[in-house]
Amino acid sequence: MIRVALLPGDGIGTEVIGAAVTVLEHVAQRFGIAVQTEWFDLGAERYLRTGETMPEPVFQRLRNEFDAILLGAYGDPRVPSNIHAKEILLGLRQRLDLYINLRPVRLVDARLCPLKDVQAGGVDMAIVRENTESVYVGIGGSFKPDTPDEVAQNTMLATRKGCDRLLQYSFELARKRRGKLVLCDKANAIESAHGLCRKALKAMAPNYPDVEAKMLYADVAAMRMVTHPHEFDVVVGDNMIGDILSDLAAALVGGLGLAPSSSTHPGRVAMYEPVHGSAPDIVGTGKANPLAAILSLAMLLEDFSHPQAAQAVRQACDRAVVERQCTPDLGGTLRTEQVTQFVCAAI
Ligand code: NAD
Ligand code: IPM
Ligand code: MN
Repeated sequence: MIRVALLPGDGIGTEVIGAAVTVLEHVAQRFGIAVQTEWFDLGAERYLRTGETMPEPVFQRLRNEFDAILLGAYGDPRVPSNIHAKEILLGLRQRLDLYINLRPVRLVDARLCPLKDVQAGGVDMAIVRENTESVYVGIGGSFKPDTPDEVAQNTMLATRKGCDRLLQYSFELARKRRGKLVLCDKANAIESAHGLCRKALKAMAPNYPDVEAKMLYADVAAMRMVTHPHEFDVVVGDNMIGDILSDLAAALVGGLGLAPSSSTHPGRVAMYEPVHGSAPDIVGTGKANPLAAILSLAMLLEDFSHPQAAQAVRQACDRAVVERQCTPDLGGTLRTEQVTQFVCAAI
C-alpha cells in the first residue's frame, strides 16, 4: 500500500494535482496498485484564512504516516512575502532533509526544442540539485531595514557531508545512465562554499573510473547547454545553480509544463512535484499543462517499484505531446482536463 499525501497548494497547483490524481486512480486500477490518498489543505488560502502555514501536527503526520507527498506549487500574489511557500515547500524539503532534487528532462518531440537541428532524444539529462543547503538555508537578515543605510545579507552554506551525499547519488545515477557527470558551480568566485564540492568530487571520482566526471563554471554550463545540449547527462548543482539550470534545461524540451521532479532521502517520505510554480497568469483558464505533474507521478510509481505503470504513464504523456493532444504551451488546443482524459485513455 502506497500512502500518498496530496498537497495541491496554490494557483495551477490545484489544477495539475487534480489531473495527476485522476491519472493515479486510473493507473492504480489498471495495474492493480494499492494506493491510499489524503488531501491536505495547506497553502495561501489557509494562510489568509487562519494565519497557519504548516501546523506542527500536520508536519508530524506527513513525516510519519505517508510514503510519498504529491505536491503542486506554492506562491500567491496575495502573500507578497511568500512566507507560506517558505514554510511549507522549503520547510518540507529542509525539515525532512530531502537532499536530492532530481529533475530529468528529455526531448520527445523535435519541434518543441527552441534550438536548430536537435532531434528527439538529443536532449536527455538529469539535473541533480542539492535541496537543503546553499543560500536556501535562511541564515541572514536585514539591518536597518527601510532606511537609507539598509544592509541585507544571506549566507551560502555548504557542508562536506552535503557534498559527499549529493555526489555519491550523482555518480551512481551516471553509472546507470550514459556515464557522464558534470558539476556546475561558481567556484571561481565563491571559493569556499563552491570549492568544497569540487574538493569532494576530486576525492570521489577515482571510485568511479567508469564515470567521466567534469567540472564547469555555471555560466559556461548555461551556454553549453544551449550550444551542445547532447553533451550533458547527469548535471549536478547546488540548490541555487540547480534551480536555475533546471528551468533552462526544461526550456530545451518544451518548457516547464513538461518538467517533473522528485525530492528524496532514502528511508524518508519522498516528495514529487512539477518544477513549475503556481503560474498566476494562467490560473483558471484551462491552460495549465498537467503533464509535469503527471510525469512527477510517474517518478513516484518508478520509485515505489511499479516500473511498468511508470512506463505506461510516461508513454501516454509522450503520445499526448507527439500527437498534439496538449495544452497551448506545447502547441495544442486542449484544456487541462482534456489532456488528462487523453493520458488516461492512452494508458
Ligand atoms: P511559474 O513556473 O509559476 O510560471 C512561469 C511561466 O511558465 C508562466 O508564464 C506560466 O504561465 C508558465 N507555466 C508554468 N507552469 C505551467 C504549466 N504547467 N502549463 C503552462 N504554463 C506554465 O513561475 P513564476 O511566474 O516565476 O512564479 C509564480 C509563483 O510560483 C511565485 O510565487 C513563485 O515563487 C512560485 N513558484 C513555486 C514553485 C514551487 O512551488 N515548486 C516553483 C516555481 C515558482
Ligand atoms: C522550485 C522553485 C522554488 C525554489 C521557489 C518557489 C522557492 O523555484 O521549486 O524550483 O527555488 O526551490
Ligand atoms: Mn525553480
